[in-house]
Amino acid sequence: TRDPVAQLLLFGATGDLARRMLLPSLFNLHADGLLPEAFVITGAARQDIDDAGYATMAREALGEFLPDDRKDDAKIDSFVARLRYQACDLSDPKSFPSLAEKVGDVSGGLAIYLSTAPSLFESAIEGLQSVNLTGDTVRVGLEKPLGYDLPSSQEINDTVARAFPETRIFRIDHYLGKETVQNILALRFGNSFFEPVWNARGIDNVQITIAETVGLEDRAGYYEGAGALRDMVTNHILQLLALIAMEPPARFDKDDVRDEKAKVFRSLRPIAPEESQAQTVTGQYFGGAVGGKIVRGYDEELGYDSDVETFVAIKAHVDNWRWQGVPFYLRTGKRMAKRQSEIAIQFKPVPHSMFAGRGGLLQPNTLVIRLQPDETIELLVMAKEPGLDRDGVRLREVPLKLSLDSEFSGQRRRIAYERLLLDLIEGDQTLFVRRDEVEAQWRWTDAIRAGWAANGTKPKHYPAGTWGPSAAIALTERDGVTWQDD
Ligand code: BG6
Repeated sequence: TRDPVAQLLLFGATGDLARRMLLPSLFNLHADGLLPEAFVITGAARQDIDDAGYATMAREALGEFLPDDRKDDAKIDSFVARLRYQACDLSDPKSFPSLAEKVGDVSGGLAIYLSTAPSLFESAIEGLQSVNLTGDTVRVGLEKPLGYDLPSSQEINDTVARAFPETRIFRIDHYLGKETVQNILALRFGNSFFEPVWNARGIDNVQITIAETVGLEDRAGYYEGAGALRDMVTNHILQLLALIAMEPPARFDKDDVRDEKAKVFRSLRPIAPEESQAQTVTGQYFGGAVGGKIVRGYDEELGYDSDVETFVAIKAHVDNWRWQGVPFYLRTGKRMAKRQSEIAIQFKPVPHSMFAGRGGLLQPNTLVIRLQPDETIELLVMAKEPGLDRDGVRLREVPLKLSLDSEFSGQRRRIAYERLLLDLIEGDQTLFVRRDEVEAQWRWTDAIRAGWAANGTKPKHYPAGTWGPSAAIALTERDGVTWQDD
């Protein structure tokens, strides 16, 4: 049951995320007629501008970040007419009365989007409470980072819980808004033929890669306190793992889907300090070339020496009946060889090959779900090469390829935030992360960090533009497994 609110209050309204993603996403929803009729968006941030100033900023952001074929002047005008702005310092209790006045009557429902530093959460929540902006008709969306370890995440969760029940808290992991990520569920549970082999009997190993070509991107303040493990694994990578590993939910709804994901997180085998060196690899890029462009190393970008990891690879296990003995290899990094996010499922080899001799070598089947840059699903299968084959059949691995981009070419590929903002506005929590999920994710990654601390692990250097330190290759090769698409 969808229950749309009448307005949105956007904290962090002048920030990078708002300009690049949130305003274009809200515009797209508006242009497609998906926002409630009299829907009002109030932007709030420290910057001292008025409604007109914010309207100008929003127009500039749309001009910069909307693709040309979406720039419709009349629609931009009618969108901007929905915007208001209130200067607000979240750390100052005196900011809130004027904010409440600007927002006005919330009986028609209000969605708050909190995209701010976690250090401001406490005062933000207290401020909202002091002016009654936390009542039954109000729901709140929370952007990452939600803490930097389990205790700090629990503290944030406790703070928010003092004002909002879990049913009105929407924790954002933007990967869940991506079409291809949701497609994992369609693929697994909308088809009958994967599920019978989707287990330790059918699958040899699972690989999840999120490789980026970008570096630090002026985010030193945040990234130095995070590193690749917290930035990408505690959220996006583990969410992908959960969607691959979860049991079939009975319904596509917030309780059933999140119950099953939470069970996966609870089943993750903790990596003890003694296993840390065998099961994890950390790296940091130094200077190199990415896509033909010379780039600086991480330390050079920072201007000082740092031990923060910009790459991490992990061999994980899900300790339950379905996945016993199946390694999940996870890796993510900045300044890698190319931008590529994908999940590769390697199936077990055939029990016996009747094709003897050269050219008869069988590769195990692999299912590759690519999220970025292109959205494709490929099943690698063995096929016979054309020819008379008098000295034995020649086989070759060929892809059965589904390109979601071309199959659904008439449909615009939406920004992940469009889906998530609409779900926040309409009150559907299915694609948002529940408290027990986040905390289980932290519990598992905190243990990895503890292992690094106990062993004095320092990141190994890798040249920008590569697939990370060679130890990450060894991580899988030791098990006789090769990373897909290296
Ligand atoms: C964010 C991380 O959550 O995800 C960034 O903080 C990262 O460091 C980004 O670049 C990747 O998102 P996407 O959608 O570009 O794959």
